[in-house]
Amino acid sequence: KRNVILDVDTGIDDAMAIMFAVRHPGIDVRAISCVAGNASLERVVTNTLGVLELLDAPPIPVAGGAQQPLIEPSRPASWVHGADGLAGLDLPVGGRKPVQQHAVELMRQTLMAAAEPLTVVCLAPMTNLALLLRTHPEVIERIERVVFMGGAVADGNATALAEFNVWHDPEAAYVVLNSGVPLTMYGLDVFHTVEASAETTADLKASGQRLDQVLGALLGYEMVNPLTGAITVNRVIGDAGAVCAITSPELFRFETWPLQVELAPGLSRGQTVVDRRRAIGEDTFYPTGQRPWPTADIALSADPEAVLQLF
Ligand code: BDR
Ligand code: CA
Repeated sequence: KRNVILDVDTGIDDAMAIMFAVRHPGIDVRAISCVAGNASLERVVTNTLGVLELLDAPPIPVAGGAQQPLIEPSRPASWVHGADGLAGLDLPVGGRKPVQQHAVELMRQTLMAAAEPLTVVCLAPMTNLALLLRTHPEVIERIERVVFMGGAVADGNATALAEFNVWHDPEAAYVVLNSGVPLTMYGLDVFHTVEASAETTADLKASGQRLDQVLGALLGYEMVNPLTGAITVNRVIGDAGAVCAITSPELFRFETWPLQVELAPGLSRGQTVVDRRRAIGEDTFYPTGQRPWPTADIALSADPEAVLQLF
């Protein structure tokens, strides 16, 4: 079993990732930490509890964490996920409540209490994780690996070059990437490739099962571009794919490369920079005085049909 902490900004595709992780027999979700990103922290916590209630999940501790990035204001992705962050579904939370602790404290306690190091799965801006690593560096050896949805080798989405989670809090991403923890990056290059068909989405919506209906509504959410009014439906499983890459890595192609994040203001702020000039183990070139970059196992492509089947 992979024992994990999920760090989320639920979020349409975070919801699908939670569904997959909670229901997959090979994963034990020890805690869920919430962070502002796709929606406000308050909405993210409510959405997360609503998904757990829908799943009739065991009482997994859920905590609210950072309400905004380290140095910038929050910039919620309302037009991608809906004003409530969850396609307007407003899932009931039943009797579920968040724990009293801050998410950083819940993460610390969960890591320190576990018999074995845990996998931290970050599907959101990395603010909580950066605060954790800076505040409690003793947890680093309790983290088996950080698997994060974020960044891209090629194109961005929040900007031409930057992916939303890294763009939303680039300093936090910098702290995490340069912390020394083993890293797996699930970026936009693969994120966009695992997409359900219109038929599957329609079948799910028409199902008599509530969970199917919700899944159909999430996959079929119609995004309305606030500037142009254009409607887009992308049906990608998004963050859920990053969890699939944990349970079934053989369905993905990974390569290990040096990775850094751009912090400078300007067109490329928040871009992940992947240095693919030389193979690891060769004498990789770094400008004089520059520290060697951290490396990450980077998912570059997937077998989309197989991943969808798994999901
Ligand atoms: C990421 O940003 C959010 O919109 C999604 O939940 C995903 O984690 C994609 O850039
Ligand atoms: Ca997310």
